Amino acid sequence: MIQGAIPLKIAGVGYSVPETVITNDDLTKLYDTSDEWIYSRTGIKERRMVSGNQDAVDLGYEAAKKAIANSGIDVQDIDLIIAASSAPPRLYPTIGCLMQAKLGIKRQIPAFDITAACTGLIYALSIAKAYIACGLYKNILLVATDNNSRLLDWKDRSISILFGDAAGAMVVTASDDGVDDVIALDIRSDGYIGDMIEYPLPGQNCPLVKPCDERESKITMNGKEVYKFAARTVPQFVSEMVEKAGLKAEDIDYLVPHQANLRIIQAIQERLGYTDEQVVVNIEKYGNTSAASIPLALAESVEQGKLKLGSTAILCGFGAGMTYGGAIVRLRKGIC
Ligand code: COA
Repeated sequence: MIQGAIPLKIAGVGYSVPETVITNDDLTKLYDTSDEWIYSRTGIKERRMVSGNQDAVDLGYEAAKKAIANSGIDVQDIDLIIAASSAPPRLYPTIGCLMQAKLGIKRQIPAFDITAACTGLIYALSIAKAYIACGLYKNILLVATDNNSRLLDWKDRSISILFGDAAGAMVVTASDDGVDDVIALDIRSDGYIGDMIEYPLPGQNCPLVKPCDERESKITMNGKEVYKFAARTVPQFVSEMVEKAGLKAEDIDYLVPHQANLRIIQAIQERLGYTDEQVVVNIEKYGNTSAASIPLALAESVEQGKLKLGSTAILCGFGAGMTYGGAIVRLRKGIC
């Protein structure tokens, strides 16, 4: 921890999911698959998807409004927006900039997007932590929103069954009581195995030069290798993060993991020795919603009373990059 650093308060969280539900049975209309195959391998029963022109900005806006309302902060007092997305509707204007306009923020505050795939919220929180610690910004809106369904190849049954659309948001502020809600935070990446999950943008070289290889713009993934990487790396990483923070797993009340695969969640749970009641799982209803996954799981479980506030939690995730990361946080009463 930096000497004299300003502590961070998690002031509010919120989430938003599209109304349209697509079940595993619905997917059998697209290709040869079954509810049994999908559920037994992933824990997913259904997912939400945008319909018509709705997109990640709309979902992010709804989540942001809830997080801001829960934080009790006036929207005009937000002085920075960081959006985390790996499935935005466009590269620019960024989701952050569009969010500023949609929320009606009158001042020309900075707003930008980051891409750390499903670890996006943890990366965004780490950036916010540094800005708040040094006193540069006071009230920061984090919006994690992904519209995966628009980037998937709907003929590829091995990948498209996994993902859904959603948004989560968090408002963090400079803490005025000296208590820091981020007890520990660690982010990592292993770019050497980055080709395990890819989404190439379309494009061609200038006709005056040698052409580049053409690649289809769609999500590709080596599911087996991703599974092995996550099941091997993430439980170990999380238990080391807890140890490095000078804590034991039993000192922390809840685990809020990225919802990618139920078996990976169970591997982390087993490593920490947590009961089912301590682990937030909603993959059955939403599938993998990328950056939105952790804040969605957090905010929804608080709303449903499954996660009691005035507690501590481990947030952890992994995703394309390959990125991974975690944070041990205090969850104050009133954030949701
Ligand atoms: N329905 C039915 N059969 C399917 C299918 C589907 N939706 N998708 C693939 N299959 C078939 C394959 O064609 C293969 O058939 P074959 O043996 O005749 O060739 C068979 O099922 C096994 O496929 P495989 O890819 O080996 O399955 P798996 O047990 O590894 O499970 C995943 C696939 C994707 C569910 C699993 O690897 C996984 O969850 N990986 C992690 C992905 C992840 O979390 N990504 C996000 C990171 S943020």
